[in-house]
Order: sequence, then structure tokens, then C-alpha cells
Amino acid sequence: MPATVMDGIAVARHTRAQLEGRVEALAARGAPCGLAVIIVGDNPASRVYVRNKVKACGEIGIHSEMIELPADVARETLLARIGALNADPGIHGILVQLPLPRHLDVKEVLETISLLKDVDGFHVESMGALMAGLPGFWPCTPYGVMMILDYYKVPLSGANAVVIGRSNIVGKPQALMLLARDATVTICTSMTRDLARHTRAADILVVATGRARMVTGDMIKPGAVVVDVGINRLPDGKLCGDVDYDSAAAVAGLITPVPGGVGPMTITMLLANTVHAAESAADIHA
Ligand code: GUN
Repeated sequence: MPATVMDGIAVARHTRAQLEGRVEALAARGAPCGLAVIIVGDNPASRVYVRNKVKACGEIGIHSEMIELPADVARETLLARIGALNADPGIHGILVQLPLPRHLDVKEVLETISLLKDVDGFHVESMGALMAGLPGFWPCTPYGVMMILDYYKVPLSGANAVVIGRSNIVGKPQALMLLARDATVTICTSMTRDLARHTRAADILVVATGRARMVTGDMIKPGAVVVDVGINRLPDGKLCGDVDYDSAAAVAGLITPVPGGVGPMTITMLLANTVHAAESAADIHA
């Protein structure tokens, strides 16, 4: 039997509808929710991402500000802008779009963002909080994966979960989130020997490698839950994931497509983090 598709667009729609109600409740209390997005330079892909974030905010009533700075912006100017946003009571989330021009120190920039407004979850203390099981913002993409797994009622406790990829943005936080839910987690990398031996033992397989179609059906345990975080453009212009969808869907129990799987959840969880930040600022504990 072919796999059931985990529809990220449907999960995103469901989650955003719930968020919209919380945004309305904040506005009714005179505490409207606000996100600032800083973009430095004119990387075309970054401009598309930022525009999509601003648009998504507008769709559920979150106030957003897009701050465009030139590629040669002085370090001090950028840090001062972040400092002003940290102090702005109308702004609850601050996001600095990456990558940054090379003259800027990414770590310094990200760590200038107030922990209370770090809705990307990229601040080292936010990462530390996730590691320690303390409250803090979770990076949006792996958080979105958790929402998809929960929406489809995938049992996590005791499951063998394999994450391929160890980035700070996806692989490592994903592993920690699954571990926090009592999954038995293995992290694989491009250096892992006999990758298929690990993937074939996975009840839940999350793939975030950036390599088109590298996981094939023969590497998947029958009935497994497969989550594809990759998005790659093929020479013919089509998009594909890190999982070879057709062969994987013939073996898996549940699978996310690309596009329409994890992608729509990343911005959704940015909205969720921003609403949560605004509720915390208004002393609402959702
Ligand atoms: N660049 C690519 N993805 C992201 C993201 O999720 N957040 C930020 N800040 N920059 C990115």
C-alpha cells in the first residue's frame, strides 16, 4: 500500500487559523503582535523569503516591519538597529535574514537579538535552552516537523528516530526535540558508514542533507514515517527533496512531499514563535 501523504499545507492552514485567533485576542487587549525582519544586501533568494514572511504575517494580522539595509552597512549601524528593536514594545520578534555579507560576524549579530525576541531560535542561549529542556524559542523548521508528526499522531515515545544532517538550524535541534519526546535518536552525517543500516532501523526518518533524492526506498523500513526537509532544484527546473519520493512512498507508511511538506511549516512556526513572544510580553501564558 502506498504511503499516506503528510500534507504540510493542511497542517500550516490549521495552525495558522489557531494563531489568527490568538493574534485577534492580543489586539483586543491593546497589545498587537509585531515582527521585524532585517535584510542586509540584495540576495534575490533572501528577498523572496523575507517577502513571504512579511506576507504571512499580514494574512493573520501580525504587524510586520521589513528593514532593508545596504550590503555594506556598518556593523555598528546594524547592531544599533537591533538594539532599537529590542527596546521597541511594539516589536515582539526580530529576525535577521541569513546569509549576511562577509564583513559581518553572524554570531555577534544573532546574539545582539534579545532572547525574548529571538523568534528564529538561532541565539546560542536559545539553542542551549533547547538542549537543557528549558523554555526558549525553537528553530522554526524542526519545530514545524514536530507539528506535522503530532498532527498525524505519530507515536514518538520509544520510537527509533534517525536524523540525517547535523546543522544547527535543522539536524541538531531536530534530534533534541525528538529526544525530548522520548524517541531513541541517531544522528547521521555525510560521513556515516553504511548509512542504510541506520536508516533501515528507523521508525521515523528525518532527512536534511541538501542532497537531491539521496534517500531511496531500499533504505527505508516498511511502514516508516519519512520527513523530507530538503528542497533542491533539478537541472530541468523542477523541485525535489532529499528523499527519492516515488521509491520511498512505495515503502513508507507516512511521507511528506516536496513541495508541500515541511516548507509551509517553517514560516508557520515563525508566526507561532512571534505570537508566543507577544503573549509572553503581555503576560499571557498560552
Ligand atoms: N535563511 C534561510 N533560512 C532562514 C531562516 O529560517 N531564518 C533566517 N534568519 N535566515 C534564513
